[in-house]
Amino acid sequence: MQRFLVLSIVVIASLFLLNSCAPDNEEDDFDLGINPTNDVISALPTDVIAPANNQSTTEKIELGRALFWDPVLSGNGDISCATCHHPNEGYADGIERSLGTGGTGLGTNRRGGIEVARNSPTIINTAFNGINQGGNYDPTNAEMFWDNRTRSLELQAIQPLLSAEEMRGPNISEQAIIDTVLNRLRNIPAYATLFQNSFGGTNPINEVNLGRAIAAFERSIIANDSPFDRYQRGDLNALTNQQINGMMQFIEVGCADCHSGPMLSDYDLHNIGAPDDGLNDDGGGNNRFRTPTLRNLGSTAPYMHNGTFNSLQQVMQHYDRNGGNNNNLDPEFRDLGNLNNQNIQEIISFLNALNDNSFDQTIPSSVPSGMNPGGRLN
Ligand code: HEC
Ligand code: HEC
Repeated sequence: MQRFLVLSIVVIASLFLLNSCAPDNEEDDFDLGINPTNDVISALPTDVIAPANNQSTTEKIELGRALFWDPVLSGNGDISCATCHHPNEGYADGIERSLGTGGTGLGTNRRGGIEVARNSPTIINTAFNGINQGGNYDPTNAEMFWDNRTRSLELQAIQPLLSAEEMRGPNISEQAIIDTVLNRLRNIPAYATLFQNSFGGTNPINEVNLGRAIAAFERSIIANDSPFDRYQRGDLNALTNQQINGMMQFIEVGCADCHSGPMLSDYDLHNIGAPDDGLNDDGGGNNRFRTPTLRNLGSTAPYMHNGTFNSLQQVMQHYDRNGGNNNNLDPEFRDLGNLNNQNIQEIISFLNALNDNSFDQTIPSSVPSGMNPGGRLN
């Protein structure tokens, strides 16, 4: 027993020594626990898991891209998914709360349109929604929306079509809109071919395949190579000292109690008391929303479920006040450690290390319906 112990110590010590001689051996750095965050927060996987019944293919992704950009999916033919999830806006829309059908313009230039109650979240990395600290997730059960009301990208993709504010508009009923859209698609030869090549079968243009194609496209919009990811995978120079301090502070003060795992989200609902205008309140002052990812915040301001904060500085001020004795608020929020100007600046610089612009930013020059790609964007 004793000999085994001594031997183990020698082995471990020599491993450390070996490691210090070869700092560029990334695998060893990681395995030996030099990664200081202890996997409470960690790099994203390099590969995406798709549902068994919706494996991604090039054809399906290209069909999904066409559908994502094609206003033919909207009641009035004026708005597409890309209007509110646009690559130039980090696949969000850059405004407090989205402006739906009837509007024109993109981002802060958007005018008119039915007001939506919530801020548009990015679709970048939604392929990983639901991922836990162990890196596991089930894409068929992945949480969607600020209140987790829908599961999976496949089912989520149908919801904006049904929504009167977002895409359906006032003229077509909720019962009729899906058939209306499917019939339009069936009458466009390019879609007949695209659906046939993606899914085969006798009637490939149907609701299930519509959701599947859009989901496959969204699973291709990935940004998993931020400085933080590279650091976690062993490139110890990928973060500045200020960012490393911020990363440790982020865990230390308790941000990672909710913002945990590779997406910096526990995918649970919490009430952190972000000021609400009554639009999203359930009536009892209970504002529980899903912990959002903190990836790519550099391109997805304004923040929170209703876009109430314009900058990370404002978000940090909210956490600095953390609600005192308000028992409606989540305990992990009330228990946050003290913030001061230094750790606020460090945490913000850590959050900036979660930005990664390597995602697919393709803007198609045309869509199969012949309408304006994206809708009325200008
Ligand atoms: C009018 C703007 C608008 C349009 C058009 C729109 N969305 Fe959204 N999207 C939003 C808003 C706002 C939310 C958050 C709504 C909520 O949580 O209640 C959202 C949420 C989502 C989410 C959930 C992300 C997450 O992490 O929970 C996905 C995925 C998504 N949209 C994809 C799409 C797709 C696909 C389309 C087209 C079929 C589409 N959106 C059309 C504004 C829009
Ligand atoms: C109790 C769980 C919890 C803790 C602890 C917590 N957050 Fe949050 N965070 C949330 C929730 C929930 C939201 C969304 C709230 C809303 O929309 O009203 C959020 C939103 C945010 C946002 C806005 C993101 C966006 O895209 O809108 C940022 C940035 C953020 N948190 C950073 C932090 C930092 C930094 C800390 C530590 C100082 C922290 N959070 C601590 C749960 C938490």
